[in-house]
Amino acid sequence: MFGSPTIVSCDLELNRFVLQNEGRLFQSSYPKPVRDILGKHSLLLITDVELHKKRRSVQLDLINKFKCTPNFLDDVDKLCVSLMESWRGNKLVLFANQAKKFTFDLMLMNLLGMEPGEPLGLQLLQHFLTFMEGFVSIPINLPWTPYAKAVKARTRISSILKQVLKAREHDEILLKGDLSDEEKASILLDLLLAGYETTSGLLSLLIYFLAQSPQALKKLKDEHHAIRRKKKEGEPLNWEDYKQMKFTIMVINETLRCGNVVKFVHRKAIKGVEFKGYHIPAGWKVLPILSAVHLDPSLHENPSEFNPWRWNVSFPFFSFTDPATSKKVITFGGGSRLCPGSELGKLEAAFFLHHLVLNYRWTMKEDDYPTLYPYMDFPRGLLIALEAETTKF
Ligand code: HEM
Repeated sequence: MFGSPTIVSCDLELNRFVLQNEGRLFQSSYPKPVRDILGKHSLLLITDVELHKKRRSVQLDLINKFKCTPNFLDDVDKLCVSLMESWRGNKLVLFANQAKKFTFDLMLMNLLGMEPGEPLGLQLLQHFLTFMEGFVSIPINLPWTPYAKAVKARTRISSILKQVLKAREHDEILLKGDLSDEEKASILLDLLLAGYETTSGLLSLLIYFLAQSPQALKKLKDEHHAIRRKKKEGEPLNWEDYKQMKFTIMVINETLRCGNVVKFVHRKAIKGVEFKGYHIPAGWKVLPILSAVHLDPSLHENPSEFNPWRWNVSFPFFSFTDPATSKKVITFGGGSRLCPGSELGKLEAAFFLHHLVLNYRWTMKEDDYPTLYPYMDFPRGLLIALEAETTKF
C-alpha cells in the first residue's frame, strides 16, 4: 500500500505499541502527496525526535495561549450565537459547510486575530478547500490536477500567513523558537488545518448521530437547560459551565468513537521489531487503524450502536467517565504525537451543542452518511431541516 509493503493493524495492543514507540521503533511516514502539500516543516512529518519535541512545544504553547486568553471562551460563545442567529428563518441548512466555516472562523480569530468575514480570511478558506482536495490525489504535477492545485494553494496560504505574521511581529511564542518565516507559517498552517477540519467533522457527526438518538438528545437538552437556568439572559458560558457538561462530553466521546474523524495514521518501522511472535521488518509501513479498534466487537458491546451511556460509571450521588472505555478508544492517537488540540476541539463542540440544543430541533433531510475516504465527510453535505424552539436562549 502507498508503494510499500505494509502491515495494516486493527489490533488495539499493536496500535498502542506502535504509537508509544514513536522515534524508537517507528516513525511518522506520510505518503508523497501529503508530504508535498503539507511541506517539510509540518509537525506531522518531522521525524527527528529532538526537533519534533521543540516544534511541538511551540504548538502546545500557542494552543494553551488561546485557551488561557480571557476572551477565548467569549469568542467561542459569540460565534456560536451568531451562527444560530444566521439560521433564523432558514428551514434547510447544508450543515457540513456551515461547520467548516464556523471552525475556520474560530481558528482565524484565535490564531490570527482576524474577525469573521475579513476578505483575507475568506481567501484563506478558499485556498484551504483546494488544499484539502489534494490530500487524496495522485501526485501528478500537471496544472489541472488536484495535486498541483493543492501544492499551489499551499504556497498561497503560506504567503498570506507570512503577511499576517509580519503585522504581528510581537507574538512572543513564535519569536521564542528562533524560527524562519517559512517555519512560523508552517506552524500556523498545521494548527489551522488540524484544528478546523477535524473539529468541523466532529460537529457534523454530532448532528448526524443525535438526529437518530432521541433519548440522548433529550438527556443533552436537560443538561443544557439546567446550566442555562442558573445564568442571566444572554450571559456567555464559562469554565464552570463547561465542567457541568458531563453527559455532553460522553456524547462527544461516543461520536468520535462511532464517527472516526481520523481513521488511521501512517508509520514505518525504523528497525526490525518483534511483537507477540510476529516480525515486522525494518522499512515496512505500519498503519494503525484507529477506527477498527473503535468498532471491534471484542472490545465494545454492540460497537455500531451509538450509546453515550457506555462512557458512564454511575453511583447514587456521582458519576464519571469510565476509564475502562477510555482505554479502548484511541481517537486522538497516542505517544509523543498524541493530539495536542483534543481538549480544545471538545470544548468548541460542547459550546456549540449548548446553543444548538437550546435553540433548535432538526431532522436529516436526505439519506446522508459519513464516509471515510480517507478523511471523514458527508457526500451530500448533510442537509438538515431546522425548526426553531419557541423559547429563544
Ligand atoms: C476534535 C477532533 C480532533 C481529532 C479527532 C484529532 C485527531 C488527531 C490525531 C489522531 C492525531 C495524531 C496523528 C498522528 O499520530 O500521526 C492528531 C495530531 C495533531 N492534532 Fe489533532 N485532532 C482533533 C483536533 C485538533 C485541534 C482542534 C487541533 C489544534 C488546534 C489539533 C492539532 C493537532 C496537531 C498539531 C497534531 C500533530 C501532533 C504531532 O505530530 O505531534 N487537533 N490529531
